[in-house]
Amino acid sequence: MFELSKRIQNVKSSPTVALNAKAKALAKTGVNVLSFAVGEPDFPTPPAVVDVAIKALQAGKTKYGPAGGSQEFREAICEKLKSENDLSYTPEQVVVGMGAKEILFHLFMALCNDGDDVIVPSPYWVSYPDQILAQGARPICLPLSPDMSTAPLRVEDIKKAGTSRTVGIVLNSPNNPAGFMYSKEMLLELGAFLKTNNWWIISDEIYEYMAFDQKHHSLLSFFPELKDRYFYVNGMSKGFAMTGWRVGYVAGTGPAIKMVRDLQSHTSTCLPPFIEEAATFAIKQGKNLLAKEIDILNGRRRLAMRLLDGIDHVSYVQPHGAFYLFIDVRKALAASTRYKDQNSMRFCEELLSEHHIAVVPGDAFGAPGFLRFSYATDDKSITEGLARFKKALQQI
Ligand SMILES: Cc1ncc(COP(=O)(O)O)c(C=O)c1O
Repeated sequence: MFELSKRIQNVKSSPTVALNAKAKALAKTGVNVLSFAVGEPDFPTPPAVVDVAIKALQAGKTKYGPAGGSQEFREAICEKLKSENDLSYTPEQVVVGMGAKEILFHLFMALCNDGDDVIVPSPYWVSYPDQILAQGARPICLPLSPDMSTAPLRVEDIKKAGTSRTVGIVLNSPNNPAGFMYSKEMLLELGAFLKTNNWWIISDEIYEYMAFDQKHHSLLSFFPELKDRYFYVNGMSKGFAMTGWRVGYVAGTGPAIKMVRDLQSHTSTCLPPFIEEAATFAIKQGKNLLAKEIDILNGRRRLAMRLLDGIDHVSYVQPHGAFYLFIDVRKALAASTRYKDQNSMRFCEELLSEHHIAVVPGDAFGAPGFLRFSYATDDKSITEGLARFKKALQQI
């Protein structure tokens, strides 16, 4: 037999998907498992959006659409980018695909050559390093900032990590898994540095509607001169509660965008047109469509923070956006009898098997010693789940 792809041998399966599967399997046996491991809003897709999809289906919108997105959807995306992000793009500079995940994969494929380095700040969304590895490039993961609440990303660390092989950097604000956001000051410092090199800037802004204490800014809005190497990535999964619809897009300029469109034409080609029509309707409504739900999410965030404040030996990164709390359990584990090695992975397994709560170990995001707790669930589950978490900490 021939050897399988060396590139893909380096790729691991998504640990969050695996953990969710474990939690579901345990729940199936009748155990009352509370899951805080999922990366999706628990709200239903707005019924008005569903109605548009049903009508489009009934109207026979079930054939292939244009590769990389319909003209109407790409125009609506450009209007959104102008009115909400102060970014100017034409529909030709936008490519639509099956979720931001597929878009990012094609983007890395277009931007990377074998042996190139791409800087990935930690903690990072699980798929970035593996998607970069799949292209034969190397993810260069930055060390964790000692204070993620006030300075999640440090230009000095980026400078140290950059080499002659560096071709790009991934930005993600609001951040999954830690919920932090880059402040305007930080973006100004970062942009001033990025102006001095020629790296691609892959900016994943998929959680931009979940920004609670501060306004979300695209770095590009402050530095329009970076436009020819900036790629704005977003999707409908989080802000419109449409994870299962698989709608993502990228806006950018130059040959790389054409390459992403060409790759789309050889992979998923297009969104199902009835889905694209519903997504066009949703994006035209904008942020207001789920404003009430996002307000509820904010209430849950405050509840979870308040409950965590009452638990000894743990701290958490100030969650200004997304819907995650990133809990630092290093002190609690070091003070325990059984987890002196601070193995948060093993601790998460115990949390699931003994206390029936599913949270994701920080190891998956380049941050051992942390746990990711998603508060995109109801108040009762959050209260009960954090009570179980407190008890678990008391028992170790
Ligand atoms: C930071 C980040 N980027 C991208 C994605 C991918 O989103 P989707 O493929 O559903 O559009 C996710 C999903 O969890 C995410 O958390």
